[in-house]
Amino acid sequence: MNNARFSRIGFILAAAGSAVGLGNIWKFPYITGENGGGAFVLIYLMTIVFIGLSLFLAEVVIGRLSREDSVTAFETLAPKNGKLWKYSGWMVVNGVIILSFYLVVIGWIFKYIYISATTLPQNVENSSAAFGGMVTTDITNQLILFTIAFIITALIVSKGIKKGIEKANIILMPMLIVILIALLYYSTTLDGFSKAIEFLFVPDFSKVHSSSILAAVGHAFFTLSLGMGTIMTYSASLPKKTNLVRASAIVALLDTIIALIAGVVIFAIIFNFGAEPAQGPGLVFISLPAILHDMGFIGNIIGVAFFVALAFAGITSAVSILEPTVMAVINRFNTSRMKALIVLGLITYILGAMALLSNIEGIKEYVTFFGTGTFDILDFLSASILLPLGGMLVAIFVGFIIKKEVIYMLLKPYMNDTVFKIWYFSIRFITPLGVMIVMINKVFF
Ligand code: PFF
Repeated sequence: MNNARFSRIGFILAAAGSAVGLGNIWKFPYITGENGGGAFVLIYLMTIVFIGLSLFLAEVVIGRLSREDSVTAFETLAPKNGKLWKYSGWMVVNGVIILSFYLVVIGWIFKYIYISATTLPQNVENSSAAFGGMVTTDITNQLILFTIAFIITALIVSKGIKKGIEKANIILMPMLIVILIALLYYSTTLDGFSKAIEFLFVPDFSKVHSSSILAAVGHAFFTLSLGMGTIMTYSASLPKKTNLVRASAIVALLDTIIALIAGVVIFAIIFNFGAEPAQGPGLVFISLPAILHDMGFIGNIIGVAFFVALAFAGITSAVSILEPTVMAVINRFNTSRMKALIVLGLITYILGAMALLSNIEGIKEYVTFFGTGTFDILDFLSASILLPLGGMLVAIFVGFIIKKEVIYMLLKPYMNDTVFKIWYFSIRFITPLGVMIVMINKVFF
């Protein structure tokens, strides 16, 4: 069996495993809460179709045409100036940055599995103090849990595409889906359920601002794992004769459905107890645990199930954040998977530890640069600059550099001419423009 190639279902699960992550279950509900619900959801769905899915397919095209790591892909597919274009492929380095703080958050999730299984905080004040206390004072536990998240991710990547990544996704993704469906079923029994549905699906445009559109575009990127070579790298290992368009649509659809299910579950619980939806990042780590406490023993069970699902989603994404860089380093430096992993792992680990320490009282001064802690610097640098930049390069490369006929021949079996024309227009003009606007706004305003 070839360890370098996914099976067809393996690819879909792995790409979905990459897309479905903390972005769906932690971030989507809280940004929806902050942006007023239904109208934001509608805008988000449109950005997924017109920007997210277009770009997703563009990454699949690059990966499938080249069958190489991202750096080599840009170098060999560019008809001229390949030596220059290869630097775009180094967008994969962004993975090291994202992974470092992503693993810190997965560490928090591990802690919340334990908290849910033992003692949930009694009210929102206690919950807020507990979360704040963990992040700003508890070095030992955070470091241990971050290290465990790091080791699990590195172990899976060390086993390669089929035996590591595909296998982990084939086990974890179905479990994640089963847990979420069980939670969804439970949420239908709550009085808050109908209010949650109304909040998420009945648009009220008076509640959205221009910043909501920016948030939607930014999130479409992050949630579909775009702009850092993940989908490109996974697509290089696609089995022949995969229907590229259908596979991309399935992944985007799964990602969206799971975000919506997470939203319904969380808001049904939040509304059931009359809490406010606009809680910011603390929604899952502060409000939810306090409410679960009020539900008694069933709250403990729901809490464990929820945070286990979140951990699974996080791990399958973390793996996909690391793999593209590992693949590029293996090929470009002609080295072994193990050696690439050790070097990249070490950098990730140090950055992650710095991010973690930058939230700790009394230490943060030492890991603060230009007045901002390492955690926030890494988050801003990756989400606001590097991911959009990567996405824009992909759009320009597919829209203007690779010959149109080559792309048309690849996609022709899977889409009709009208759809191709719409997609090609979108990747040349709508996507780069949308991304540019987001980037300029995030950086300058
Ligand atoms: N899509 C993941 C999420 O929603 O949590 C995060 C992510 C994975 C971002 C892989 C970027 C990436 F390349």
